[in-house]
Amino acid sequence: MKIAIACDHGAFEYKNEIKQMLVEMGNEVEDFGCHNTDAVDFPDMVVPAVTSVVENRNEKAIVLCGTGIGVSISANKVNGVRCALVSDCFSAKATREHNNSNVLALGQRVIGIELAKEIVRVWVGTEFSNDERHMRRINKIMAIEEN
Ligand code: RB5
Repeated sequence: MKIAIACDHGAFEYKNEIKQMLVEMGNEVEDFGCHNTDAVDFPDMVVPAVTSVVENRNEKAIVLCGTGIGVSISANKVNGVRCALVSDCFSAKATREHNNSNVLALGQRVIGIELAKEIVRVWVGTEFSNDERHMRRINKIMAIEEN
């Protein structure tokens, strides 16, 4: 799978660890930065990363910051993005099955690295349900962008 990844200075370490894990799993990872712990503004990395998903250059994106909140808010401003901020494996599975989320947000200051990596494995490995009721709700979410 082709996966975009992006972070700010508050999640530089997790970004690198998760990127390495994804590559070891056989994924192709496009790294949109940041590339060190110097302070940056997360929208500068997040918007190009999630835009690559909307434009079908990557299948999914994973965005990280200290809390995961700033990156998830930013990602969800981009048309076509369904970003889920997740801190547990149940939600990681549910948001793929029910919401067909195409972007995952994580907070380095909120969860441990092993949980973060397990969430990523679950999220990347779970397919959308394709259930009619889930499709209907997603279509209503996406229709919000038309207004
Ligand atoms: C950076 O200090 C911090 O604000 C950022 O990583 C994130 O938590 C914002 O939502």
